Amino acid sequence: MDDTSYKTDALIADDIDAYLDQHQNKSLLRFITCGSVDDGKSTLIGRLLYDSKMIFEDQLAALESDSKKVGTQGQDIDFALLVDGLAAEREQGITIDVAYRFFATEKRKFIVADTPGHEQYTRNMVTGASTADCAVILVDARKGVLVQTRRHSYLAHLLGIKHLVLAVNKMDLVEYDQATFDAIVADYSAFAEEIGIEGFTATPISGFKGDNITAAPSPNTAWYDGPSLVDHLETIEIANVAAQEKPFRMPVQWVNRPNLDFRGFSGLIGNGSVKTGDAVRIVPSGKTSTVKSIVTYDGELDKAVAGQSVTITLADEVDCSRGDVIAAADNPPEASDQFEATLVWMDEEALKPGRGYWLKLASQMVTATIQEPKYEINVNSLEQLAAKTLRLNSIGVAELHTERPIIFEAYTDSRALGGFILIDKITNATVGAGMLHFSLRRASNVHWQATTITRDQHADLKNQKPRVLWFTGLSGSGKSTIANAVEQRLNMMNRHTFLLDGDNVRHGLNKDLGFTEADRIENIRRVGEVAKLMTDAGLIVLTAFISPFRAERDLVRAMMEDCEFIEIFVDTPLEVAEQRDVKGLYKKARSGQLKNFTGIDSPYEEPEAPEIRVNTIEMTVEEAADHIIRQILPLK
Ligand code: ADX
Repeated sequence: MDDTSYKTDALIADDIDAYLDQHQNKSLLRFITCGSVDDGKSTLIGRLLYDSKMIFEDQLAALESDSKKVGTQGQDIDFALLVDGLAAEREQGITIDVAYRFFATEKRKFIVADTPGHEQYTRNMVTGASTADCAVILVDARKGVLVQTRRHSYLAHLLGIKHLVLAVNKMDLVEYDQATFDAIVADYSAFAEEIGIEGFTATPISGFKGDNITAAPSPNTAWYDGPSLVDHLETIEIANVAAQEKPFRMPVQWVNRPNLDFRGFSGLIGNGSVKTGDAVRIVPSGKTSTVKSIVTYDGELDKAVAGQSVTITLADEVDCSRGDVIAAADNPPEASDQFEATLVWMDEEALKPGRGYWLKLASQMVTATIQEPKYEINVNSLEQLAAKTLRLNSIGVAELHTERPIIFEAYTDSRALGGFILIDKITNATVGAGMLHFSLRRASNVHWQATTITRDQHADLKNQKPRVLWFTGLSGSGKSTIANAVEQRLNMMNRHTFLLDGDNVRHGLNKDLGFTEADRIENIRRVGEVAKLMTDAGLIVLTAFISPFRAERDLVRAMMEDCEFIEIFVDTPLEVAEQRDVKGLYKKARSGQLKNFTGIDSPYEEPEAPEIRVNTIEMTVEEAADHIIRQILPLK
């Protein structure tokens, strides 16, 4: 059986209802299959679906387009069941090739994430594995443990999948030879131990002939006394069950307030369990209360556990909003803003250390910046390699910090509060996924010191409103010259100003920085911080930096008060700047003596909507300066 023989009927809401009703009282095991088509993955999945008289299955893509047709009213929970976790991030633009298939046996229902084994495997697998309880690693009995077997196992382990099944497939093609099976198992054991996999179950199977899939032992493998694949899958402990033993945590997804008499907090219980009357604490505020009721779509419950979506009402009127976590009062999670984490990079564009990305962890969303990786992991050899960035499908360890503290737990303790994704702020694509290791202590020891004289008082004394006039443009576009002329005019108008110029700042504060992307990002971040301090001191700050990336210019803009940041695009075409070549640098860049030169072999992203644009072909320096002054008046 191959992929094309799968039933591909459109999945409609009624099907989901029927499926869930029929199997409502059965536990649900999510697993992932790893291996390539050659290993017989499609055949195996086809066999599982066929032998279990599968109710329905379909591609997630079909589900999504159909959900538009049928509307999602009343179906939220069902759809969430299918597309939760990272899969929901598909909407954000990344193409992930994961097909979810469903089947049920007498004892259990199953969702299997089928991830293709081609070169995009990492991000596909991360998506499929993020909610899986078990990974079935397929090995072709004729080939044994391959590089990709190791990769898949490593990733599954990294993503916290507790149960691994080594399915040695195509046993029919090796005459059901026990020695072949034993050798593969021994080989795999050695590797598994090396990466810290505590245990796995090995089963000799033939997806094609059906040996040891649903019943064991097959007469062909009389020497095997373990369970069949399905028997084993039916007994695996479900992650949610293990999670129930942990302290209670529910990230608040939304505040449910249909009328003035009801105020409930809705979310998916990540860990632990909760009963009415339990003492809970809201983090980060630290306020405590007790659980008054636990409400679900089907009525009220006395108790709810990890994996259930519920609405909780509290006995007291406490502040609690989206992003907060309701936790056991005597054992709440901590908050921090600096972490070490393992990252899996999933975007064509490599990680830019220092750049702000959206970090989404449970229902919290904050800006995070990632430092240069400590190392990258060679998934084949498990070696730690030096790395300046992470590229598509690579895995590494890095420190990151978030713009405000987030509530978290180590991924090994809680997938819900330790797993996160990174989203590009401009393209909205999911670019990475990560697992928090621990908080870096220094975060909690540095506090903001309140000062008595406010920024308004500084500015009032100077009789002006602080501003940042941010000049951006190619090297040689005229930024410094025009900024200088503008500062002269402001000075004559009795304004208190300061001009920060790229070439000058790079002699002092930023003399440790060069012209790689990462260094330019850091250059602008520091200049932004300095400009911010200067506006706090009441100054009108002029900056003249190429500042080639939109993301960092926007970052600085976001640091300033509304209307304080004025982006001035010195719009000189490359040909003109190159022809002027005031410092002779274009010539050097063209001849290859100077690398990473903006406009030549390093990009410049033009502002999309600058407050002011000056065209240096049509205007002289003096005209440009006058034009800018006119635009920024009045200054008070
Ligand atoms: S930025 O890209 O990080 O904003 P910045 O404005 O500080 O650059 O510095 C640019 C100045 O450094 C240029 O005007 C030029 O004099 C000098 N320079 C030296 N090497 C380079 C390079 N590779 N690319 C651009 N500018 C360079």
